[in-house]
Amino acid sequence: MLQRAAAFAPSNIALTKYWGKRDHTLNLPLAPSLSVTLAELGTLTVVAPNPELAEDVMMVDDQELDPAGMAKVRRVLDAIRLRAGSQVKAGLRSVNTVPTARGLASSASAFAALAVAASKAYGLELSERELSVLARSGSGSAARSVAGGYVLWHAGESADGSDSYAERVFDGEHWPLKILVAVVADQKKKVSSTQGMKMNAAGTSPLFRAWIDQCQRDVVACQNALRDKNMRALAEVVEGNALAMHATMMANRPPLLYWQAPTVALIHAVRRLRDEGAECCFTIDAGSSVVVLCEPQDARAVSDELASVPGIEEVLQTRVGGGARLVGDAG
Ligand code: PMV
Repeated sequence: MLQRAAAFAPSNIALTKYWGKRDHTLNLPLAPSLSVTLAELGTLTVVAPNPELAEDVMMVDDQELDPAGMAKVRRVLDAIRLRAGSQVKAGLRSVNTVPTARGLASSASAFAALAVAASKAYGLELSERELSVLARSGSGSAARSVAGGYVLWHAGESADGSDSYAERVFDGEHWPLKILVAVVADQKKKVSSTQGMKMNAAGTSPLFRAWIDQCQRDVVACQNALRDKNMRALAEVVEGNALAMHATMMANRPPLLYWQAPTVALIHAVRRLRDEGAECCFTIDAGSSVVVLCEPQDARAVSDELASVPGIEEVLQTRVGGGARLVGDAG
């Protein structure tokens, strides 16, 4: 049965990163990665199958989605239609509560919300694992936005990607950290993660292989730090992993440099705060903004300190959240 359906999916921030693909069409990673799910920041998507439409159409934050974005959306929709035995096109509308294209993973929540809403709209009952695989085909990191809490994305080995999915390893209550996002005033990022990963894989970074090997070890160390709720151990692996990813990019030819001056100032601010006793650590995705994890009792002081760094547009604050879900009113 075809029906209008709506879903919200949270954004996620990788604690050990996905940067390198073994398959660029299916978004299959070379290494596993671990992430934390952000509570209120994410994407709400409505999918309305409509037999009168000749093509799928999608509005994102009240603007028609560009052809490149539409091609990725269609890949997910076509996989769902194939399973559902339907050829009906759909009208889609989505609203982001994440600042787009600033190194915050808005594509992760977007494709997770799409997978959940569209599979319901086309009458499929899919497991969390199947939804994760579907979301991944739109954007790799979206595999991690289906489950909530602390999430592990298995790299998998099969060529069709059926074993490359994400699942929760700890829920948010296990370690209810606060997550601060220090948004650096910047133009939209110039090199997307899709382009960046292609350049890095096909490029000449002498660090790339070592980086992938490091990820295999980091994912284990990170899971142990989360299990033990050990911020010092978490800081070592999470900061080390983010810096190693950026080092790989910077060593590429042509180099990829996402940081701005405030990015570096924020790194130093977090390290200083930790030296002074605050329980916190930072990470940085493919952008200039800095994400800080901290114990709730330190959130206020850390947030004030981040906001005082010149060039910071705003500091968003959230907590570890639950996974993607259908929402009642399809509006
Ligand atoms: O899913 P993509 O193609 O937007 O890639 C995400 C890449 C990073 O955000 C830099 C790392 C990660 O693991 O999320």
